Amino acid sequence: MNKIIFSNVCKTFDGGLQVLRDISLEIKAGETRIILGQSGCGKSVLLKCLLGIMEISSGDISIDGISVKEKKRAREYLRKFSILFQGNALFDSMTILENVIFGANQVNKDKSKCLQLAEEKLLAVGLEKRVFNLYPAEISGGMQKRAALARAIAIEPEILLFDEPTSGLDPLTGGKICNLLKDTIKSLNVTALVITHDLKVAEFLADRISVLNKGNVIWTGQAAQMESCGNEFIENFYNASNAILRK
Ligand SMILES: Nc1ncnc2c1ncn2[C@@H]1O[C@H](COP(=O)(O)OP(=O)(O)OP(=O)(O)O)[C@@H](O)[C@H]1O
Ligand SMILES: [Mg+2]
Repeated sequence: MNKIIFSNVCKTFDGGLQVLRDISLEIKAGETRIILGQSGCGKSVLLKCLLGIMEISSGDISIDGISVKEKKRAREYLRKFSILFQGNALFDSMTILENVIFGANQVNKDKSKCLQLAEEKLLAVGLEKRVFNLYPAEISGGMQKRAALARAIAIEPEILLFDEPTSGLDPLTGGKICNLLKDTIKSLNVTALVITHDLKVAEFLADRISVLNKGNVIWTGQAAQMESCGNEFIENFYNASNAILRK
């Protein structure tokens, strides 16, 4: 069964701006799917619609057969996934450990179990014990990303959603985070949806890539097929992403 299904999803804002135009996507259980597209093409709107924090104008989105519109099953729907936000969204007033305990506490009410789970997840994402009691502002961006990932997986989701997972990181740290994400997705055997405009991230993580342009999914396929897929926009995007900037 497909895990996440977008069926003919449209989103038009008041004032008439149509941002999503008839989006249909089927993401299989265990698949890592990338939504790739340039700035302003509707990636974040798509993600907000999936999360149910933005209402779709028409069509439907479902996870394991539960529609985003079924308000009575909202808890069951929301319980399926966990999201790693672009800005990490750690709580500033909580230590790193407390942040992850907060995640664990969403699914486990036993305090000592939550503590144990939080420590386990922090170690799993490569954070040392010395940072557990520091606050988000006291650690680097890469470490914050790791902590946010630990909090996301502490919820033990079936689906992981990532919004621009490497933005704001230098290439070396970004590369390490990408490796960590890939290992985490594999070891937890989760379905993953990654929103990005970064071709390298897409190529590295993808089982399949869906290219979004002006609110339409214009192509879905494997990274290796992109370069010669015959679509002018995608080939230009591909070449521009690989181009070396010259004066
Ligand atoms: N709440 C809103 N009301 C009206 N228009 C909106 C709203 N949210 C987004 N938009 C519009 O929808 C379009 C797509 O925006 P979106 O944030 O999804 O782009 P994006 O693909 O995520 O871009 P980026 O890569 O820069 O994050 C933009 O034209 C934006 O102005
Ligand atoms: Mg965005």
